[in-house]
Amino acid sequence: MTSITNELETRFQQAFERAFGEAFSAIDPMIRAAQDARFGDYQSNVAMGLAKKIGDKPRSVAERIVANLSIDDICETPEIAGPGFINLRLKSTWLAEKISSIAIDEKLGLEPAREPMKIVVDYSGPNIAKQMHVGHLRSTIIGDTIARTLAFVGHQVIRQNHVGDWGTQFGMLIAYLFETFGTEAVNTGNLHISDIEAFYKQANEKFRSDEDFARRARQQVVELQAGDQNALRAWEVFRNESLKHCQEIYDRLGVMLNISDVRGESFYNEFLPGVVDELLNNHKVAVEDQGAVCIFLEGFKAKDDSPLPIIIRKSDGGYLYATTDLAALRYRVRELGAQRIIYVTDARQVLHFQQIFATAQKIGWDMNPATQQRASLEHVTFGSVLGEDGKPLKTRSGENVKLKDLLEEAVLRARSVVEQKNPELPEDQKRDIAGKVGIGAVKYADLSQNRTSDYTFSYDKMLAMEGNTAPYLMYAYARVKSIQRKGQINEKETSAGEKITIAHPAEAALAKKLLQFSEIIEEVVKNLRPNMITSYLFDLSQTFSGFYENCPVLKAEDDATRASRLLLCDLTAKTLKQGLALLGISTVEQM
Ligand code: ARG
Repeated sequence: MTSITNELETRFQQAFERAFGEAFSAIDPMIRAAQDARFGDYQSNVAMGLAKKIGDKPRSVAERIVANLSIDDICETPEIAGPGFINLRLKSTWLAEKISSIAIDEKLGLEPAREPMKIVVDYSGPNIAKQMHVGHLRSTIIGDTIARTLAFVGHQVIRQNHVGDWGTQFGMLIAYLFETFGTEAVNTGNLHISDIEAFYKQANEKFRSDEDFARRARQQVVELQAGDQNALRAWEVFRNESLKHCQEIYDRLGVMLNISDVRGESFYNEFLPGVVDELLNNHKVAVEDQGAVCIFLEGFKAKDDSPLPIIIRKSDGGYLYATTDLAALRYRVRELGAQRIIYVTDARQVLHFQQIFATAQKIGWDMNPATQQRASLEHVTFGSVLGEDGKPLKTRSGENVKLKDLLEEAVLRARSVVEQKNPELPEDQKRDIAGKVGIGAVKYADLSQNRTSDYTFSYDKMLAMEGNTAPYLMYAYARVKSIQRKGQINEKETSAGEKITIAHPAEAALAKKLLQFSEIIEEVVKNLRPNMITSYLFDLSQTFSGFYENCPVLKAEDDATRASRLLLCDLTAKTLKQGLALLGISTVEQM
């Protein structure tokens, strides 16, 4: 189903063609939802820009557009305001028709992508030599929302968890593994780290306090990189255990990553010599510089104006983060067939990705072999999670906050919210709600921020029942469901051909809000900003409140009105549920 904006755009472009000739048929009509309901529902500002091109006054251009606009099935007669704004007001009959069709559409009016694309979303990517901490939160949940949204629209999403599972940091862990279980244990396959958290800690402590151990740890790195079988096996054991720990966090968080999405740094290890060789000898973008291999690209300068290279091989022969990313990019385009690659990392990696993208584009590694088109390379950045003191969130003792602890705490606190709200509920239901509210609150608080800014982490704020929070929205959903329960309707019944009628302005307002859902999603597909979804859902639940205050549902004046309003309730519930699902937040029927 086409969105309202799209539908209006088409009509406008037809009018341009009639009024000014074919050359004008593709001009952007600049249609936006009106800021102020008094001026209508949508507004076009196109006349101002067109006036210059045509050599006429904006107002007269607006008049000529309106005279050629065939739109009276959708809108009341358009009004021209000020210098030449064209104001559009939707007809309630059209609105009723449109909203009735959306009410039975499983995509809620969203038009599936006309050309589904293969899109790689690279997110989470923790360095697994450490336990997952709050620094991994944003990439994990922002990336998950982006992936879910793209999939909802109909794209083929390929999740890639580019974990840091290779490199010097593993020496310490392997050495510790050997010393805990004995070098022989790796061959029997009986290694099992029961408590990964304690394991990290102990290895680290030993590394710091025991110089001999530290030396052995450094030696392990060399052996690992030289392909020593025992070292490799120990590495594998550690990696598996560590990934298991990550998976527990993903499951707890309700993000869609699983083990098969892991394609970490180690995967690309075998390609690295070839990558460097090709860049040096085939593409000739890399050069040897004081023993290292570097790529110098135009436009990348350090503060002192000296050229800023990407190093892809150190003088000791070691490869770097950038080398792996070049290998990964090529793999994604050539082997996975990516047409769009979205990298979700914090803003400190901006330069890194600019350099990677520029290199790939220069040598054509972004060229998709099947489509013969360049893949779109996009870096989605985000700010930091701050503590109440305005500094990056840390524990009281100054350590990174572990994600596991953070989530547990949120669920614990959500429990008391549930306890207050609904003390009568049975125990298992309370536990279920607290889990969903607690996790939902953490995610929502993050996703509702403009992702490029920092935000202050606050359990109290994210768990508030009022305001733009997960509990508020989940409660709004549960409330609509309870109206439906009281109205004793079930979803099958509501979709059985009844029609929505729009008589009251509050019904019209709700219908228009509901119709915007697909437009919002289409925007998010382009700008990858989850906070557009949260703002929309918040608006929607407030618009619903306005409707519910003004329009009795269960005690409506007649059966037809009651049925129509119940349908509006049902569509509101579905939209809230779907919107929250795109954020990876579960709803509950009762709260
Ligand atoms: N492991 C990296 C880090 O912790 C994030 C990986 C992001 N993805 C990538 N392809 N570089 O910073």
